[in-house]
Amino acid sequence: MLIQKDTIGVGLLGAGDISVLHARAVHKSPGAKLIGLWNRSQDRARHRAAEFGCKNYASPEELVHDPAIDAVFVLTNLESHLEYTKLALVAGKHVLVEKPVGVSVGEIAEMQALADANGLVCLPGHNYIYESGMMRTRELVEGGDLGKIVSAYVMYNIHHPEEVARRYPGVVRQILTHHSYILLYLVGKPVELCAMKATLHYAEYPEEDIAMVQMRLHNGALAHFCASFAADDHAADPWTVMVKVIGTAGSTRYSYRDHVEIKPGLVHSQTYTAYQGSITNEVRYFLVDCLRLGAKPLSSLEDAITAQKMIEAAEESITNHSVIRL
Ligand SMILES: NC(=O)c1ccc[n+]([C@@H]2O[C@H](COP(=O)([O-])OP(=O)(O)OC[C@H]3O[C@@H](n4cnc5c(N)ncnc54)[C@H](O)[C@@H]3O)[C@@H](O)[C@H]2O)c1
Repeated sequence: MLIQKDTIGVGLLGAGDISVLHARAVHKSPGAKLIGLWNRSQDRARHRAAEFGCKNYASPEELVHDPAIDAVFVLTNLESHLEYTKLALVAGKHVLVEKPVGVSVGEIAEMQALADANGLVCLPGHNYIYESGMMRTRELVEGGDLGKIVSAYVMYNIHHPEEVARRYPGVVRQILTHHSYILLYLVGKPVELCAMKATLHYAEYPEEDIAMVQMRLHNGALAHFCASFAADDHAADPWTVMVKVIGTAGSTRYSYRDHVEIKPGLVHSQTYTAYQGSITNEVRYFLVDCLRLGAKPLSSLEDAITAQKMIEAAEESITNHSVIRL
């Protein structure tokens, strides 16, 4: 069901921190307009609607049933993603749902079945891969230009104050979800993994602020993830967000440190331009490439299901101190 009208109308369910990046991204997408938002607390809803220059809906139902809205972005907390995604899909709207997409594999499968049954696009918020450096790496891997892949690394070291971390699950779900879909996109599925986690700088919040995962890939190569809210990396060529693929005939690197603005980000100590940039690219791809031109998402709900299985395997490995086969 391709959209042909001049303007694609967008509505946001949830107006927290991430909505600021999505609103900017919609403004930069040709032929798209942010029509309005709904947020559970009215104070924030009014403030953000004024900031974004859009309507403030009284209820999520009112937003999804507005004929001016074609696509709904689900930007609430993880536990409510399924409820709002279903509401929008049943109302016949395309959906972009933030990551982690669901609490369980079953929740994501439910979204996928409903989107397929209604002929709608439901794009997981897998923003990191909508970057030219990532796409080029995949092309090189797929074309065999890097030779035999021997290793892949996804590293994330960005300090998050405890009051910010509290709004999220621990880094295993909140951050390793990014790592999982990145790995799937670049080099494919792991066949086994083992994981560890620790809590190093929170005074009271009980969830982990650092986690690492070791994996064996289908071709025998090894991969490593690190996700940390515990500390920034201040050294030369820092591993703030760093993705590496190494093959026998070449290697690639993607780094958040390629573009840095010396001003605080929403929660980061500096502004990593790629954070906004990847969301801008993702939103433009969703609204223009998928909804107008019929392109498939670069990462699908099927990938979100596999990423969720990797997260659950990491949790099982942590609990049982064991290597888990996928
Ligand atoms: N892609 C990324 O890089 C990235 C980065 C940060 C957050 N996220 C994701 O975006 C989503 C929102 O994160 P955020 O940083 O904006 O958080 P936030 O805490 O700033 O905002 C969350 C919003 O959801 C609302 N909310 C909470 N529980 C709700 C419920 N049960 N029903 C309805 N509304 C509810 C809150 O009122 C709040 O406005 C999360 O799923 C998070 O994982 C993605």
